[in-house]
Amino acid sequence: MKVDDINTITVLGAGNMGHGIAEVAALAGYDVVLRDIKDEFVQKGYEQIEWSLNKLAEKDQLTQDEADAAFDRVTPVVDLGEAVAEADVVIEAVPEKMSIKKEVYTELEANAPDHTIFATNTSSLSITELSEVTDRPERFCGMHFFNPPVRMALVEVISGKHTDDETLDVIEDLAEEMGKTPVRVHKDSPGFIVNRILVPLMNEAAWIVESGDATVAEVDSTTKYDMGLPMGSFELADQVGIDVGYHVLEYMHEVLGDAYEPCPLLSEKVEEGNLGKKTGKGFYDYESGEGAHVP
Ligand code: 3HC
Repeated sequence: MKVDDINTITVLGAGNMGHGIAEVAALAGYDVVLRDIKDEFVQKGYEQIEWSLNKLAEKDQLTQDEADAAFDRVTPVVDLGEAVAEADVVIEAVPEKMSIKKEVYTELEANAPDHTIFATNTSSLSITELSEVTDRPERFCGMHFFNPPVRMALVEVISGKHTDDETLDVIEDLAEEMGKTPVRVHKDSPGFIVNRILVPLMNEAAWIVESGDATVAEVDSTTKYDMGLPMGSFELADQVGIDVGYHVLEYMHEVLGDAYEPCPLLSEKVEEGNLGKKTGKGFYDYESGEGAHVP
């Protein structure tokens, strides 16, 4: 397959990353199917795409006609067979749990056309292990976007042990068609490159607060203004989802060892269901309209 053969992209999972990836694909002119397991999930993602496209139009980053045309290219679907019937590429963005993703790939393999490439947006999990539950491990790779996908340029294109070069070339070209900058990651290791650096940074920030050495505001102020990162560590955790960072750490801890032990401050937030912006509350309160206020 060549990138010009791609017409339809199906995105599995309509959460933060899934709906953002679907939006980026629609803006690049592809027919996009957005699929989740419940109508309410898929509708929420669909509405978020509409919100985001309108926001970009408001800010003159595209015309309202371009926003409307992109939105028209997205079809929300719940039935998996229907969702993937025409798919040339499936980009999977379901929760960051090996068991959930394996179940999805088993079902997907039974429904997808033979030629379809499977690309996973996993943040950390083994591409090789996931690919081995399908009958097409050579047409399976990582395509890792960053949050929010519509604003972040980087895409890690990750090779599993069985991925063939044609698949990596097509997915790299697809990322470019989507206006992104792909970086090929040759080794399928936990967290790949970015999250291997970024998630331990969030974890260390949490350990500093847990040990009483500094407050959330002090840590965020330091990372944002002194280290020059675009967001404070806790602000970023709220942006990507505290659960996402926590699951990445859990996996890195399991595979790479104790240096990656998740801080209890993160697990407490996950248990409470305060996962960041998406739930209205994380380290900061978004429900009150206050949001992140890094001093
Ligand atoms: N679509 C459209 N508009 C959006 C949006 C979206 N998805 N998300 C936010 N906006 C809007 C906001 O509503 C706000 O609008 P307003 O000005 O009308 O209130 C505006 O965009 C905010 O943007 P600003 O222009 O004020 O902020 P910046 O342009 O300075 O930057 C940012 C925003 C690009 C998110 C920047 O803060 C940034 O780069 N942050 C770091 C993000 C990052 O590192 N992401 C990677 C995380 S790691 C990851 O995702 C991997 C995963 O596997 C864990």
